Amino acid sequence: MPETASPARLVVLISGQGRNLQALIEAQRSGRLPAELVEVISNRPDAAGLDRARAAGLPSRCLPHQAYADRAAFDAALARAIDAARPDWVILAGFMRILSPGFVRRYAGRLLNIHPSLLPRHPGLRTHEAVIAAGDTEHGASVHLVTEALDGGPVLVQGRLRVNGETDPVRLAERVMSEVEQRIYPQALAWLLRGVLRVDEGGLVFRGARRAQPPGLADLDPEFQ
Ligand code: GRF
Repeated sequence: MPETASPARLVVLISGQGRNLQALIEAQRSGRLPAELVEVISNRPDAAGLDRARAAGLPSRCLPHQAYADRAAFDAALARAIDAARPDWVILAGFMRILSPGFVRRYAGRLLNIHPSLLPRHPGLRTHEAVIAAGDTEHGASVHLVTEALDGGPVLVQGRLRVNGETDPVRLAERVMSEVEQRIYPQALAWLLRGVLRVDEGGLVFRGARRAQPPGLADLDPEFQ
């Protein structure tokens, strides 16, 4: 994006701690992410990420999913709230709800998620436990476009770490968060917004060249290292 263009508008959806949200806030504040966080929406009133949003002075709101009759009603209300904020991108950052196909189609191509595994390995929940149970030597996280297939959209950036015999899923999750997720999510967005990274019918194009594999930690810009 040319520096004169207005910053991209991001709506961030959360359910929990909001550490990925925090990484986006910090990247935006330090000038690494040419974006405006126009709204943070949680489906849980007790999400610690809502406190992070308030502390950063960001507009935030909660739509408690239990207050809606069914998934369709919740997704419709969520779409209304998102659309009111007129986002360019909708960023799932630990948003622990399965979204209906209609919702996903509505934001196709501008709906982004981070998943704590080396997709397509270990889609779904409890990925750190799955990595330990499988005896994997490598683990990590993937930023991907959201499609109707659960954790199945095109992977844009993937960061890896060595498991190093770790047997505690909580400690492994913390490593994935701090060593990988909080670095690759803001970086992936910064690349997308600047046109450094894009997806077309042929797959990924990164720094002007077609890539069979998504960029990883070794490719990060110095300010995201
Ligand atoms: C992260 O591991 C994310 O990849 C997964 O849920 C967790 C959310 O953590 N989808 P936080 O809310 O960003 O702290």
